Amino acid sequence: MPAPLRVAVLVSGRGSNLQALIAAQRSGALPIDIVVVASNKPAAEGLRHAQDAGIATVALDATGRRDRAAYDAELFARIAAFTPDLIVLAGFMRVLDAAVLGPWAGRIINIHPSLLPKYPGLHTHQRALDAGDALHGASVHFVTAELDGGPVLACSEIAIETGDDADALAARLLPREHVLLCRCVQWIAEGRVAWQDDRLHFDGAPLTDVLRV
Ligand code: GRF
Repeated sequence: MPAPLRVAVLVSGRGSNLQALIAAQRSGALPIDIVVVASNKPAAEGLRHAQDAGIATVALDATGRRDRAAYDAELFARIAAFTPDLIVLAGFMRVLDAAVLGPWAGRIINIHPSLLPKYPGLHTHQRALDAGDALHGASVHFVTAELDGGPVLACSEIAIETGDDADALAARLLPREHVLLCRCVQWIAEGRVAWQDDRLHFDGAPLTDVLRV
């Protein structure tokens, strides 16, 4: 059996996606080793989940750090010390400096609560409602310097129902996010995903459409 994929997870808050990864790994469904959980918010609940699970943590407070590039370089140096194979942004609410992303191209993913390329950035649930969309969802994509703009590996869709507000949509989407993120990390851990020649490949063939979970 190949060694488990070494995964670093970055969180800024609640950490429910992190918890889903921890639970899936513990159940034996996910061949990964979460080597570190890092946060820009020392009080992030996600850090506590990691500590409870016996996972190493890095808390690097971004408050008052004016030099974004220097902060990101320090954070990524701390993470790199754990030699992860993959970095997962799971509710990490910062835009990262292009310089730190370069060495991680193809090895860093993010979960975003919209059907990308729709609604990069914030307030995605409200924006889907305001646009009168029939469908909403979450996407997992590889991270580039463009905000929520890297190639999308997979998405999970939900229907928008009459009477939905942003909170209802977020609550209905969250369990789908957990499944989506775990599935994507599993595919990567199993070596089924590659980013070559500017294109995502799945099971050796170029990905022609976003995978649906
Ligand atoms: C999720 O909705 C994720 O898509 C977005 O931030 C939220 C994080 O939730 N990027 P949690 O911290 O994993 O509970």
